[in-house]
Amino acid sequence: MVTESAECGDLSKFLLQLGESLDQYLRFEHPDAMLNCESWHRALGGTVPKRGVGIDQVVADMMQHLIPNGSQVPKPGCTAFITTGATSAGILASLSGTVAAPQRFGLTAFNYLEDVSLNWMAEMFGLSPKMQGLYSSGGSVANLVALGAARQWAFEKRGIDPARDGLQLPSRIYASSSAHHTIHRAAAVLGMGRTAVTAIPVDDRGGIRLTALKQQLQADAGLDSVPVAIVGNAGSTDSCAIDSLRDIGELAREFGTWFHVDGAYGLPGILDPRVKHLYDGLSLANSVTIDPHKWLGAPVGIGATYVDDRDLLKRAFTQEAADYLEGTVVEEGFVSSMDSFGTPYNEYGVELSSPSRGAVVWALIREIGVEGLRDRVCRHNTMARNVAEQAHCHPNLEVVQDPTLSICCFRYVTDQWKDLNELNRRIHRQLVHNGQNIPSTTMVSGKCVIRPCFIGARTKQAQADALVSEVIEIGNQLLTDSND
Ligand SMILES: Cc1ncc(COP(=O)(O)O)c(C=O)c1O
Repeated sequence: MVTESAECGDLSKFLLQLGESLDQYLRFEHPDAMLNCESWHRALGGTVPKRGVGIDQVVADMMQHLIPNGSQVPKPGCTAFITTGATSAGILASLSGTVAAPQRFGLTAFNYLEDVSLNWMAEMFGLSPKMQGLYSSGGSVANLVALGAARQWAFEKRGIDPARDGLQLPSRIYASSSAHHTIHRAAAVLGMGRTAVTAIPVDDRGGIRLTALKQQLQADAGLDSVPVAIVGNAGSTDSCAIDSLRDIGELAREFGTWFHVDGAYGLPGILDPRVKHLYDGLSLANSVTIDPHKWLGAPVGIGATYVDDRDLLKRAFTQEAADYLEGTVVEEGFVSSMDSFGTPYNEYGVELSSPSRGAVVWALIREIGVEGLRDRVCRHNTMARNVAEQAHCHPNLEVVQDPTLSICCFRYVTDQWKDLNELNRRIHRQLVHNGQNIPSTTMVSGKCVIRPCFIGARTKQAQADALVSEVIEIGNQLLTDSND
C-alpha cells in the first residue's frame, strides 16, 4: 500500500521514461485518441482510489494511456484555431520552473527572467521603451488585464476609482466585428457588460472601417457613458487582418480614449519585412497583448500584457496589503525578512500564485534568437501565400481572403452544389476525420471557408501543399458521390 509520494531521487529516472514517451508521441505515429476512447476511459477513470498504486504505476499509466491519447494540436498538419505544440526549450524551462520556482513572489533567477524576457519581447516586436509588461495565462487574461488598465484610466479621469468603488457610469469599448470575443468577456468580467462593446464593421481586407469608427465615436461623444477603449487587431483570429493602427491611435488621441492593440496572435508578424509597415502606429498604443503560446511555440498557459503605465495596473488590480503577505506591507518602520521581494507582479494582474513564465520565454528566445523567430514567421507567412496562390490557380478553389500573415481563407467552389457553405463544412468534417491535415473553418463575408493558420514550429510547406490537395480530393469525391 502506498500512502506517501515518492520524494527526491527518482525524478531523473522517471523523466527519462517520460521523455522517451513524449518523443514517441511527437513522431505522430500513434492512432487517433478518438478511435479507442473506451479503452483509455476505462484505464484512467473509475472511482477515487482508496489506496495508492505508487509512482511506478502512475508513470506507466501515463506512458501507456495518457500521452498517446493526447491532443492532435502539436501535429505538423494541425493548423486549426491558433494553437500549436510547444518546442523543447520551452517544455524544459516550464518543467524546471514547476520544480524550482513554484512562486512568483520573492527574488529568484526565475522571477528575474520575467522582466528580462518581457523586455526582450518588447524590443523584438518594436514596442515603445516605456511599455512594461506582465505575464498571465494567455490572451484571454492578457486582454482582461489590458482593459482593466483602460477602465481604471478612463474612470479616474472622471474622479472615480472603479477598482475600489465600482462603476458608477455606463461605459463603452469600440472594436471591429472581427475582434476576439475575449474582449467582450473581459468587458463582462470588468463590470462593463458585454454590450458595452460596440462592433464596428470591417472592410474587404478584414480591417476596421475607420469612417464607421469615427462616426460612432462622434455620435457617442455627447452620451453620459465613459469611452473606455478602442481595440485594434494586430492579426485578427478569422483572417489575420491588421487594423490601421496609426489611424486608430490618432482617433483614440482625438477622442481621449485608451488604445489597446490585441496582438495575441499577430504581433510577431512584425518580424517579417514584407508586412512590417502594417504595424505602423503601434507606438501609439497604451496597451498591447501578445501570446508566447501561439507563434513563439511556448507551452500553453503564457500570455503577456504591456501597458504604458504599470502603476495603473497596480491601482486596477491591487489586492491591497495583507498581514499574511509580507511584501505588501510597507508601513513606516516595518522590519521585513528580506531586503527585496522583487517586482510585485501579483499586484499588477489577477493572479497571486502563478507559474514561472519568464524563464520559458527566455529559453525560447535564447535558443533561436530574433533571427530564428523571424525565419519561422516568414516561413509561415510564405506558406499562407503559397496556399492562396495555389487556390487562385485552381478552378475549384476560391480565395475568400488573401493572407496578410499566416492564415489563408479559401473554399472549394463548384456550380454543381447548391449550398457551398454546407459543402465546405462537409469537406472540413472529412479532413478532421482523416486526421492528417486539420484546419479550422470560419465565416468570411457570409462564406464558410477552410482556414489554416500556420504557426506550428514543426509545420512545413509540405503540410500546406498536402492540405490544398486533400481539400480538392475530398471536394471532388463528394461531387462524384452526389452524382452517383
Ligand atoms: C487575437 C486573439 N486574441 C485573444 C485570443 C485568446 O487567447 P487565449 O486562447 O490564449 O486565451 C486569441 C486566441 O486565439 C486571439 O486569436
